[in-house]
Amino acid sequence: MEQCPMSRLIIISNRVQPPTGEGGGNQGGLAVALSAALRESSGIWFGWSGETVDEFTGKIDFQRNFGVTTATIDLEPQDLDEYYNGYANRTLWPLFHYRIDLAEFESGFAEGYERVNQRFADTLEPLIEGDDLVWVHDYHLFPLGARLREKGIRNRIGFFLHIPWPPYRLLLSLPNHRELVETLLAYDVVGFQTRDALECFHDYVRNELGGTIDGNRVTVGDHSVTAIACPIGIDADNFVEASQSAAARYAHYRMRQSTNGRDMIIGVDRLDYSKGLEERFLGYERYLSSNAGQHGEVFLLQIAPPSRGDVQSYQEIRSSLDALSGRINGAFADVEWVPIRYVNRGYPRDKLAGIYRAAKVGLVTPLRDGMNLVAKEYVAAQDPEDPGVLILSRFAGAAEQLTDALLINPHSPEDICDAIAQALAMPLEERQARWRACMDNVMSQDVVWWRKRFTDALEGAAAAAAA
Ligand code: ADP
Ligand code: G6P
Repeated sequence: MEQCPMSRLIIISNRVQPPTGEGGGNQGGLAVALSAALRESSGIWFGWSGETVDEFTGKIDFQRNFGVTTATIDLEPQDLDEYYNGYANRTLWPLFHYRIDLAEFESGFAEGYERVNQRFADTLEPLIEGDDLVWVHDYHLFPLGARLREKGIRNRIGFFLHIPWPPYRLLLSLPNHRELVETLLAYDVVGFQTRDALECFHDYVRNELGGTIDGNRVTVGDHSVTAIACPIGIDADNFVEASQSAAARYAHYRMRQSTNGRDMIIGVDRLDYSKGLEERFLGYERYLSSNAGQHGEVFLLQIAPPSRGDVQSYQEIRSSLDALSGRINGAFADVEWVPIRYVNRGYPRDKLAGIYRAAKVGLVTPLRDGMNLVAKEYVAAQDPEDPGVLILSRFAGAAEQLTDALLINPHSPEDICDAIAQALAMPLEERQARWRACMDNVMSQDVVWWRKRFTDALEGAAAAAAA
């Protein structure tokens, strides 16, 4: 059993979703990872309740669920529009996922974003004690560290970005990009998912801020911050256990029954345009077109719970996937066979683990992804004697670690088609060798490793304000 860190950990993220005991839903990687990290150490998880009130009060609701203490605040509807649906999900998310075509730059969004970060700082400040380690998560909260410093907080404060960091020249299209990036200098440690993201950050610092890089230290004027690549992992032991639970075994059995001897390919993603779902369907369509002998022998199960449904680009991707899955099924289906089972809902983790295990192929093809935990979960759920094959986008952060997956270009339907054919025909020995190499990484660089790597860096860093 891992030792708790000496200091109490205060984790802050926009989304706070502690485990429910039923384990399920469409939380996204951040909530899944933070639940696991907090179970391992005492501390508080602070953030938005997911609810709105007419007028912001700053009242904090404390709860304890399955070993995790949460402290949440309600926001106003205007905050939701400008900060969450606006700046976070209509400006930063698309831009940081290289979708400048979808990014909207409204000054009202930026104001709402600043206001909510200030509200977070004002309500959080009284909770921070002595030598607490403060750890801020993700693109909703870039400025929070700077706002806490302004309020006199001298504790060590770290920031981890769960999504990609865009290339320097792309980031220049964000109005006030400089102010936003400079707020990162208030932290003691800034963590990125990949070396690639870290290098893009370095490029920005050198080219735009005139800063210098010396190993892990990034210096701009009088400010110095530790910047590291620290890839997030899954709660691997727990997931392996989940995949062997009675619920998982039952889900696996039911799935095998319903596949009727056919090979199943699986995709599991929030319904997000960054996940490359249209391209995935088109790649699979190409596979069906060029492998007529496989009709009736294989099917794709795509599980995609809706996400951020108030944002237009998410409504659009949803309708276009409805249309595309309908078109492909219409073109290829038979009375006894449907090529795509397209499901828009979440499943409990145990059940999901059993479903992953029943799939011969895991199809994980985001156009851009900070990490992608589904890829790691798919690997962890496999039967070592007869493992499935992971097909993974080279543009997912996980591709830096899972180098023995079949790495593909998700923009190319041909690449997807060829990889499906290769995976379905792969001899057992090669499947086992590739799986073992991926599994070694999933097990060794798990969520505990990630949390420890980050908090060790944070504990080792001198408080910025004391410098
Ligand atoms: P993101 O954080 O962008 O959503 P990740 O792949 O990193 O992408 O994390 C997604 C997390 O959400 C995974 O832990 C996955 O198991 C979970 N998830 C996604 N879809 C579902 C679903 N339909 N049911 C249950 N969990 C889901
Ligand atoms: C990604 C983001 C998280 C976010 C999650 C779900 O994992 O990095 O910050 O919580 O998606 O999105 P949502 O908007 O529902 O919180």
